Amino acid sequence: MDRYAVIGNPVAHSLSPTIHACFAAQRGESVEYVALRAPLDGFRALVERFFDTGGRGANVTLPFKGEAFELARHASPRAREAGAANFLALRDGRIECDNTDGAGLVADLRDNLGVALAGARILLLGAGGAARGAIAPLLAQSPARLVIANRDAERARALAERFADQGLLAACGLADIPRERFDVVVNATSASTLGARLVLPEGVLREGVLAYDMAYGAAAAAFLAQARASGARATDGLGMLVEQAAESWRLWRGSRPDTAQVLAELRSGRP
Ligand code: ATR
Repeated sequence: MDRYAVIGNPVAHSLSPTIHACFAAQRGESVEYVALRAPLDGFRALVERFFDTGGRGANVTLPFKGEAFELARHASPRAREAGAANFLALRDGRIECDNTDGAGLVADLRDNLGVALAGARILLLGAGGAARGAIAPLLAQSPARLVIANRDAERARALAERFADQGLLAACGLADIPRERFDVVVNATSASTLGARLVLPEGVLREGVLAYDMAYGAAAAAFLAQARASGARATDGLGMLVEQAAESWRLWRGSRPDTAQVLAELRSGRP
Protein backbone atom coordinates (compact mmCIF):
# COMPACT_ATOMS: atom_id res chain seq x y z
CA MET A 1 0.00 0.00 0.00
CA ASP A 2 1.39 3.45 -0.92
CA ARG A 3 2.18 5.45 2.20
CA TYR A 4 1.63 9.20 2.66
CA ALA A 5 1.54 11.50 5.67
CA VAL A 6 0.89 15.00 6.88
CA ILE A 7 3.71 16.19 9.12
CA GLY A 8 3.28 19.05 11.58
CA ASN A 9 3.32 20.05 15.24
CA PRO A 10 0.60 20.03 16.43
CA VAL A 11 -1.01 17.79 13.84
CA ALA A 12 -3.64 15.70 15.66
CA HIS A 13 -6.38 18.17 14.59
CA SER A 14 -5.47 17.88 10.88
CA LEU A 15 -8.29 16.96 8.49
CA SER A 16 -5.82 15.85 5.81
CA PRO A 17 -5.98 12.10 6.69
CA THR A 18 -9.80 12.26 6.44
CA ILE A 19 -9.66 14.13 3.13
CA HIS A 20 -7.19 11.71 1.56
CA ALA A 21 -9.19 8.72 2.85
CA CYS A 22 -12.21 10.21 1.02
CA PHE A 23 -10.14 10.62 -2.17
CA ALA A 24 -8.93 7.01 -1.92
CA ALA A 25 -12.47 5.69 -1.40
CA GLN A 26 -13.81 7.80 -4.26
CA ARG A 27 -11.15 6.57 -6.67
CA GLY A 28 -11.06 2.98 -5.41
CA GLU A 29 -7.34 3.27 -4.66
CA SER A 30 -5.69 1.69 -1.68
CA VAL A 31 -3.43 4.20 0.11
CA GLU A 32 -2.41 4.84 3.68
CA TYR A 33 -2.28 8.50 4.82
CA VAL A 34 -1.44 9.27 8.44
CA ALA A 35 -0.70 12.30 10.63
CA LEU A 36 2.87 12.41 12.00
CA ARG A 37 3.91 14.80 14.74
CA ALA A 38 7.54 15.86 14.36
CA PRO A 39 9.45 17.24 17.35
CA LEU A 40 10.14 20.95 16.81
CA ASP A 41 13.84 20.18 16.36
CA GLY A 42 13.32 16.87 14.59
CA PHE A 43 11.52 17.60 11.32
CA ARG A 44 14.37 16.68 8.98
CA ALA A 45 15.13 13.42 10.79
CA LEU A 46 11.47 12.39 10.67
CA VAL A 47 11.13 13.23 6.96
CA GLU A 48 14.29 11.29 6.08
CA ARG A 49 13.15 8.27 8.10
CA PHE A 50 9.69 8.45 6.48
CA PHE A 51 11.11 8.35 2.96
CA ASP A 52 13.86 5.83 3.85
CA THR A 53 11.17 3.42 5.07
CA GLY A 54 9.03 3.55 1.94
CA GLY A 55 6.98 6.76 2.28
CA ARG A 56 5.82 8.05 -1.13
CA GLY A 57 4.87 11.61 -0.27
CA ALA A 58 4.04 14.01 2.53
CA ASN A 59 2.13 17.17 3.14
CA VAL A 60 3.71 19.59 5.57
CA THR A 61 1.91 21.94 7.89
CA LEU A 62 2.87 24.48 10.53
CA PRO A 63 5.49 25.19 11.65
CA PHE A 64 7.61 23.26 9.14
CA LYS A 65 6.76 24.69 5.70
CA GLY A 66 9.97 26.74 5.55
CA GLU A 67 12.12 23.79 6.66
CA ALA A 68 10.42 21.54 4.11
CA PHE A 69 11.41 23.97 1.37
CA GLU A 70 14.98 24.06 2.62
CA LEU A 71 15.52 20.34 2.95
CA ALA A 72 14.22 19.43 -0.52
CA ARG A 73 16.86 18.76 -3.20
CA HIS A 74 14.60 20.28 -5.85
CA ALA A 75 11.90 22.96 -5.46
CA SER A 76 9.11 23.81 -7.93
CA PRO A 77 8.76 27.44 -9.08
CA ARG A 78 5.63 27.69 -6.87
CA ALA A 79 7.58 26.61 -3.80
CA ARG A 80 10.41 29.01 -4.64
CA GLU A 81 7.96 31.91 -4.99
CA ALA A 82 6.30 31.04 -1.68
CA GLY A 83 9.64 30.35 0.04
CA ALA A 84 7.81 27.46 1.65
CA ALA A 85 6.54 23.98 0.81
CA ASN A 86 3.49 22.02 1.92
CA PHE A 87 4.23 19.11 -0.42
CA LEU A 88 7.09 16.59 -0.54
CA ALA A 89 7.60 13.66 -2.86
CA LEU A 90 10.40 11.20 -3.51
CA ARG A 91 11.34 11.22 -7.19
CA ASP A 92 14.36 9.38 -8.60
CA GLY A 93 15.66 8.95 -5.07
CA ARG A 94 15.60 12.63 -4.16
CA ILE A 95 13.15 14.64 -2.07
CA GLU A 96 11.33 17.28 -4.14
CA CYS A 97 9.01 19.98 -2.83
CA ASP A 98 6.12 22.03 -4.17
CA ASN A 99 3.54 24.41 -2.76
CA THR A 100 -0.10 23.62 -3.52
CA ASP A 101 -1.64 26.11 -1.03
CA GLY A 102 -1.98 29.01 -3.48
CA ALA A 103 -3.43 26.77 -6.17
CA GLY A 104 -5.88 25.51 -3.54
CA LEU A 105 -6.94 29.04 -2.66
CA VAL A 106 -7.48 29.98 -6.30
CA ALA A 107 -9.41 26.77 -7.05
CA ASP A 108 -11.69 27.30 -4.05
CA LEU A 109 -12.40 30.96 -4.85
CA ARG A 110 -12.89 30.40 -8.57
CA ASP A 111 -14.41 26.93 -8.87
CA ASN A 112 -16.27 26.38 -5.58
CA LEU A 113 -17.30 29.93 -4.71
CA GLY A 114 -17.78 31.22 -8.27
CA VAL A 115 -15.57 34.30 -7.88
CA ALA A 116 -14.46 35.82 -11.18
CA LEU A 117 -10.82 36.46 -10.26
CA ALA A 118 -9.90 37.93 -13.65
CA GLY A 119 -10.58 41.65 -13.27
CA ALA A 120 -11.34 41.32 -9.54
CA ARG A 121 -10.14 43.81 -6.93
CA ILE A 122 -8.49 41.78 -4.20
CA LEU A 123 -7.31 42.82 -0.75
CA LEU A 124 -4.86 40.43 0.91
CA LEU A 125 -4.49 40.86 4.68
CA GLY A 126 -1.14 39.73 6.10
CA ALA A 127 2.45 39.48 4.93
CA GLY A 128 3.64 36.23 6.51
CA GLY A 129 4.16 32.86 4.89
CA ALA A 130 0.47 32.27 4.16
CA ALA A 131 0.14 35.59 2.32
CA ARG A 132 3.38 35.15 0.42
CA GLY A 133 2.27 31.79 -0.99
CA ALA A 134 -0.99 33.28 -2.25
CA ILE A 135 0.41 36.23 -4.21
CA ALA A 136 1.75 34.64 -7.41
CA PRO A 137 -1.23 32.28 -7.86
CA LEU A 138 -3.65 35.21 -7.37
CA LEU A 139 -1.70 37.45 -9.78
CA ALA A 140 -1.72 34.65 -12.36
CA GLN A 141 -5.53 35.03 -12.48
CA SER A 142 -5.14 38.61 -13.78
CA PRO A 143 -7.01 40.53 -11.08
CA ALA A 144 -7.58 44.25 -11.73
CA ARG A 145 -5.76 45.02 -8.50
CA LEU A 146 -4.11 43.27 -5.58
CA VAL A 147 -3.47 45.27 -2.42
CA ILE A 148 -1.39 43.69 0.37
CA ALA A 149 -2.18 45.21 3.76
CA ASN A 150 -0.28 44.24 6.89
CA ARG A 151 -0.06 45.46 10.48
CA ASP A 152 3.63 46.03 9.83
CA ALA A 153 3.42 48.04 6.59
CA GLU A 154 7.12 47.59 5.82
CA ARG A 155 6.65 43.84 5.61
CA ALA A 156 3.78 44.34 3.13
CA ARG A 157 5.95 46.66 1.02
CA ALA A 158 8.83 44.20 0.96
CA LEU A 159 6.45 41.50 -0.26
CA ALA A 160 4.94 43.74 -2.95
CA GLU A 161 8.42 44.63 -4.19
CA ARG A 162 9.33 41.00 -4.47
CA PHE A 163 6.40 40.33 -6.83
CA ALA A 164 6.43 43.72 -8.57
CA ASP A 165 7.30 42.23 -11.96
CA GLN A 166 4.24 39.98 -11.93
CA GLY A 167 1.33 42.40 -11.80
CA LEU A 168 -0.51 45.30 -10.34
CA LEU A 169 0.43 45.31 -6.68
CA ALA A 170 0.11 47.88 -3.91
CA ALA A 171 1.06 47.62 -0.27
CA CYS A 172 0.07 49.45 2.92
CA GLY A 173 -0.52 49.18 6.64
CA LEU A 174 -3.90 47.90 7.91
CA ALA A 175 -4.90 51.41 8.96
CA ASP A 176 -4.13 52.81 5.49
CA ILE A 177 -6.19 50.43 3.37
CA PRO A 178 -7.45 52.53 0.46
CA ARG A 179 -11.12 53.48 0.54
CA GLU A 180 -12.07 51.56 -2.56
CA ARG A 181 -14.46 48.74 -3.24
CA PHE A 182 -12.85 45.30 -3.07
CA ASP A 183 -14.56 42.20 -4.43
CA VAL A 184 -12.59 39.80 -2.26
CA VAL A 185 -10.82 40.27 1.08
CA VAL A 186 -8.53 37.34 1.94
CA ASN A 187 -7.41 37.02 5.55
CA ALA A 188 -3.93 35.49 5.61
CA THR A 189 -3.03 36.85 9.05
CA SER A 190 -2.84 34.68 12.14
CA ALA A 191 -4.88 37.17 14.19
CA SER A 192 -7.93 34.89 14.67
CA THR A 193 -5.73 31.90 15.50
CA LEU A 194 -4.05 34.00 18.16
CA GLY A 195 -7.44 35.09 19.50
CA ALA A 196 -6.95 38.72 18.45
CA ARG A 197 -9.41 40.90 16.55
CA LEU A 198 -8.20 42.40 13.28
CA VAL A 199 -8.52 46.14 13.41
CA LEU A 200 -9.63 47.31 9.97
CA PRO A 201 -10.88 50.69 8.76
CA GLU A 202 -14.65 51.12 8.55
CA GLY A 203 -16.07 49.94 5.22
CA VAL A 204 -13.38 47.41 4.23
CA LEU A 205 -15.76 44.57 5.10
CA ARG A 206 -19.20 45.39 3.77
CA GLU A 207 -22.06 44.11 1.66
CA GLY A 208 -20.90 42.91 -1.74
CA VAL A 209 -17.50 41.74 -0.45
CA LEU A 210 -16.50 38.10 -0.18
CA ALA A 211 -14.49 37.83 3.05
CA TYR A 212 -12.34 34.71 2.91
CA ASP A 213 -10.27 33.32 5.77
CA MET A 214 -7.46 30.97 4.78
CA ALA A 215 -7.87 29.18 8.10
CA TYR A 216 -10.85 26.97 8.93
CA GLY A 217 -12.88 25.97 11.95
CA ALA A 218 -12.26 27.78 15.22
CA ALA A 219 -9.20 29.55 13.81
CA ALA A 220 -11.39 31.41 11.30
CA ALA A 221 -14.41 32.07 13.52
CA ALA A 222 -13.51 35.56 14.75
CA PHE A 223 -12.84 36.96 11.26
CA LEU A 224 -15.97 35.38 9.78
CA ALA A 225 -18.11 36.82 12.58
CA GLN A 226 -16.53 40.24 12.09
CA ALA A 227 -17.15 40.09 8.32
CA ARG A 228 -20.76 38.94 8.65
CA ALA A 229 -21.50 41.63 11.23
CA SER A 230 -20.39 44.15 8.58
CA GLY A 231 -22.71 42.67 5.93
CA ALA A 232 -20.05 40.77 3.95
CA ARG A 233 -20.43 37.22 2.65
CA ALA A 234 -17.92 35.18 4.63
CA THR A 235 -16.31 31.79 4.20
CA ASP A 236 -13.48 29.85 5.80
CA GLY A 237 -10.61 28.03 4.10
CA LEU A 238 -11.96 24.48 4.33
CA GLY A 239 -12.38 24.47 0.54
CA MET A 240 -8.78 25.64 0.14
CA LEU A 241 -7.63 22.75 2.33
CA VAL A 242 -9.53 20.22 0.21
CA GLU A 243 -8.28 21.79 -3.03
CA GLN A 244 -4.62 21.82 -1.96
CA ALA A 245 -5.07 18.18 -0.95
CA ALA A 246 -6.50 17.34 -4.39
CA GLU A 247 -3.60 19.10 -6.05
CA SER A 248 -1.18 17.10 -3.86
CA TRP A 249 -2.96 13.88 -4.79
CA ARG A 250 -2.72 14.79 -8.47
CA LEU A 251 1.02 15.43 -8.22
CA TRP A 252 1.60 12.15 -6.42
CA ARG A 253 -0.82 9.92 -8.29
CA GLY A 254 -1.59 11.57 -11.61
CA SER A 255 -5.35 12.12 -11.37
CA ARG A 256 -7.38 14.83 -9.66
CA PRO A 257 -10.12 13.69 -7.24
CA ASP A 258 -13.62 15.22 -7.27
CA THR A 259 -13.37 17.83 -4.54
CA ALA A 260 -17.01 18.98 -4.51
CA GLN A 261 -18.21 15.70 -3.06
CA VAL A 262 -15.54 15.63 -0.34
CA LEU A 263 -16.09 19.27 0.59
CA ALA A 264 -19.86 18.73 0.86
CA GLU A 265 -19.28 15.71 3.11
CA LEU A 266 -16.88 17.63 5.35
CA ARG A 267 -19.26 20.58 5.62
CA SER A 268 -22.07 18.25 6.64
CA GLY A 269 -19.78 16.56 9.19
CA ARG A 270 -20.28 13.14 7.58
CA PRO A 271 -16.89 11.46 6.94
P1 ATR B 1 2.01 32.69 8.63
O1 ATR B 1 3.17 31.90 8.11
O2 ATR B 1 0.88 31.86 9.18
O3 ATR B 1 1.52 33.73 7.69
P2 ATR B 1 3.55 34.60 10.15
O4 ATR B 1 4.65 34.59 9.16
O5 ATR B 1 3.89 34.60 11.61
O6 ATR B 1 2.57 33.38 9.97
O7 ATR B 1 2.61 35.85 9.82
C1 ATR B 1 1.53 36.18 10.62
C2 ATR B 1 0.76 37.31 9.96
O8 ATR B 1 -0.36 37.63 10.77
C3 ATR B 1 1.57 38.59 9.82
O9 ATR B 1 1.12 39.25 8.65
C4 ATR B 1 1.18 39.35 11.08
O10 ATR B 1 1.34 40.75 10.99
P3 ATR B 1 2.79 41.42 11.33
O11 ATR B 1 3.65 41.12 10.14
O12 ATR B 1 2.50 42.87 11.47
O13 ATR B 1 3.26 40.77 12.60
C5 ATR B 1 -0.29 39.00 11.14
N1 ATR B 1 -0.89 39.19 12.48
C6 ATR B 1 -0.74 38.42 13.57
N2 ATR B 1 -1.47 38.89 14.60
C7 ATR B 1 -2.10 40.00 14.15
C8 ATR B 1 -3.02 40.94 14.75
N3 ATR B 1 -3.42 40.82 16.01
N4 ATR B 1 -3.48 41.95 13.97
C9 ATR B 1 -3.07 42.07 12.69
N5 ATR B 1 -2.22 41.21 12.07
C10 ATR B 1 -1.74 40.19 12.79
